[in-house]
Amino acid sequence: MLELDWTHLPFGYVKTDYNVRSYYRNGKWGELEISSSEYVSMHIAASSLHYGQEAFEGMKAFRGKDGKIRIFRWEENAKRMESSANGVMMAVVPHELFLKAITTAIRLNERFIPPYGTGASLYLRPLLIGTGARVGVKPADEYLFLVFVTPVGPYFKEGFKPVALQIARDHDRAAPKGTGRFKVGGNYAASLSAGEEAHASGYAAALFLDAKEKKYIDEAGPANFFAIKGNKYITPKSESILPSITNKSLMDLARDMGMEVEVRPVPVEELAEFDEVGACGTAAVISPVCKIDDHLTGHVYKYCNDGQAGPVSTKLYKRLQGIQYGDEPDIFGWNY
Ligand code: COI
Repeated sequence: MLELDWTHLPFGYVKTDYNVRSYYRNGKWGELEISSSEYVSMHIAASSLHYGQEAFEGMKAFRGKDGKIRIFRWEENAKRMESSANGVMMAVVPHELFLKAITTAIRLNERFIPPYGTGASLYLRPLLIGTGARVGVKPADEYLFLVFVTPVGPYFKEGFKPVALQIARDHDRAAPKGTGRFKVGGNYAASLSAGEEAHASGYAAALFLDAKEKKYIDEAGPANFFAIKGNKYITPKSESILPSITNKSLMDLARDMGMEVEVRPVPVEELAEFDEVGACGTAAVISPVCKIDDHLTGHVYKYCNDGQAGPVSTKLYKRLQGIQYGDEPDIFGWNY
């Protein structure tokens, strides 16, 4: 097996052996092609370069103790990419092509799937970009769908250790009727300045509020927001946040643990009432939150005073990872 420091992998890019690609031309998708190049060649007027006509997905494959490789909820990612493609007027990737692309990319790069017990996984990055030349603002007529993979450790370098967030009152990530619910690059570009400001002040990420009223919690850019209050799992209902597959899975697990799940607007002041807070996503899994600083109003909210993740977040994290690595029965049928 490959010599990588598996237990200390960052969430970053490692060159692997192959990626896979399919081109959409003349109204149809072409055969899947295998490439060992890390580059794409495209027209200088490609719609993705100028008008941001692109979408991506983030998903993971896990090596289990039994040697099996499990892909977590691939169909949810295929559906979300379909929704993103429709959201910015791109050709939709058929689910069979999506599945063939991810399984081929995993098989061809098997030596990069981290060993069981390291806490690392193989991150899959499906990407859909407009390659057709456009100067007027119009959808392209040609697209490239590609999947590359890279072995990763935790998204936040702290791993499953509590992190601090800074509320970004002076930035908006996405507008209510805009593209916030699609996984398109523009949302991430819009989150960069707030994220970098937060990092420069020692926070792991920015926490965005709803763009219209600045009254409710939206999400943390690279991750969704959830909170635990008594026996309730609470997560924001908002038109401008990404429908996280991890969040959806945590809701199912919380219900299975006898908890009530509330998906509703979460006012900022309610931060004072939560027992536990976390950020969740494919990359982050769960990042427990120990502090939220609303620096422009002077409010600071603190959680996990002993410096440890709370008991409910810990249980949710263990159950989710248990299913993903195949240590627990896959009671919801999530693994492929
Ligand atoms: C993910 O959780 O997979 C994401 O896409 C978030 C971030 C790395 C962009």
